[in-house]
Amino acid sequence: MTFDKHILVTGGAGFIGSHVVRLLVQKYPNYRIVNLDKLTYAGNLENLTDIQEAPNYCFVHADICDQKAIERVFSDYQITDVIHLAAESHVDRSIHGPMEFVLSNVVGTVKLLEVARTSWSNKSNHVFHHISTDEVYGSLGESGFFNESSPYDPRSPYSASKASSDHFVRAYYHTFGLPIKISNCSNNYGSHQFPEKLIPLMIHNIIENKPLPVYGKGDNIRDWLWVEDHAKAIDTIFHNGEIGHSYNIGGLNEWTNLELVNFLCKCMDEKLGREIGTSANLITHIEDRAGHDKRYAIDASKLCSALGWQPTVSFEQGLDLTIDWYLSNKEWVKKVTSGAYQRYYQKMYSSK
Ligand code: NAD
Ligand code: DAU
Repeated sequence: MTFDKHILVTGGAGFIGSHVVRLLVQKYPNYRIVNLDKLTYAGNLENLTDIQEAPNYCFVHADICDQKAIERVFSDYQITDVIHLAAESHVDRSIHGPMEFVLSNVVGTVKLLEVARTSWSNKSNHVFHHISTDEVYGSLGESGFFNESSPYDPRSPYSASKASSDHFVRAYYHTFGLPIKISNCSNNYGSHQFPEKLIPLMIHNIIENKPLPVYGKGDNIRDWLWVEDHAKAIDTIFHNGEIGHSYNIGGLNEWTNLELVNFLCKCMDEKLGREIGTSANLITHIEDRAGHDKRYAIDASKLCSALGWQPTVSFEQGLDLTIDWYLSNKEWVKKVTSGAYQRYYQKMYSSK
């Protein structure tokens, strides 16, 4: 079988990566999608059972820090393009142990860049699309938005590692002419998100009647985007974005954490047939996250006006779909939260 492109997607067994892989495999039968993932606690091949037999999909179990393995993949699969999502992604874990973040997010990214640089002789036929975060811009006050010209001001070990990787990606463009694109997205939510992140953790705890741990007063603000809209934005930028450019992705959907958790509680009470107010009684304010960024808000007008992308799913719709997915996939939650995760979670909360 011949393919028009051979795209290496790193981190394709994770939350966002699995949505990106599914979209590309189903939309582009003329592309081969090579999913490379280390399968850390956050990577799970069950996220992709529906497409694992597709003739244009394959999986490689490898670490992006293993340069020899990456070289073999580039050569064996004649990789023409990279969409790079593999990373340690949870801010709280980066506070408890920054080094994994330096290794996977910084060193791993540079190794991948190095293999792309040395493998692609005619650079004009390729794209290296780096997936990054709005957290590289730091924290906003009550007003204003992050746009592509906002200065970098990362404040957690996670965001510092992502900012560093963005700088390396740009350096490979300026120094070596590597054909790169970067996208910086706001908070994602949807199915298959590891239940250590706010929304799936709260859904899980509501189902289990466990306390809902809100950091500090709960007045920090996040800008939430439906994960499939992020995957569509990546598809758009990968195909139509300009080489060397960055694009911010977000859906103008700001919520304080407390407002969001209260709304989630109300939706869950309705779904579970509980009296309204039952779940909100589980809200427990706990010690704040160290260096907790106050507010993120994305100005995505460059992506919307230049490339015609728009979010398609409202927060109410998306949250409804997300709750339904977690209610129907309790076994998935049980599986991914057993073993090492339980030990991490208990250690983290015993130190709060
Ligand atoms: P995730 O933690 O759910 O998945 C990360 C995946 O990367 C996992 O499958 C894991 O096994 C894999 N991985 C980690 N280290 C690896 C390594 N060294 N080699 C190979 N594979 C490795 O993360 P996510 O939330 O899906 O985020 C994906 C990307 O998107 C990350 O780069 C993250 O910084 C970025 N991002 C996330 C969000 C969000 O809200 N979750 C928003 C903006 C940007
Ligand atoms: O903005 C994009 C970023 O969004 C991504 O780059 C990260 O990979 C992703 O994890 C996410 O980072 P956040 O730190 O914003 O997400 P998290 O779900 O961990 O937390 C969201 C907010 O909720 C944050 O203000 C902290 C708060 N929170 C979180 C948890 C897990 C709580 O109050 N209680 C909790 O138990």
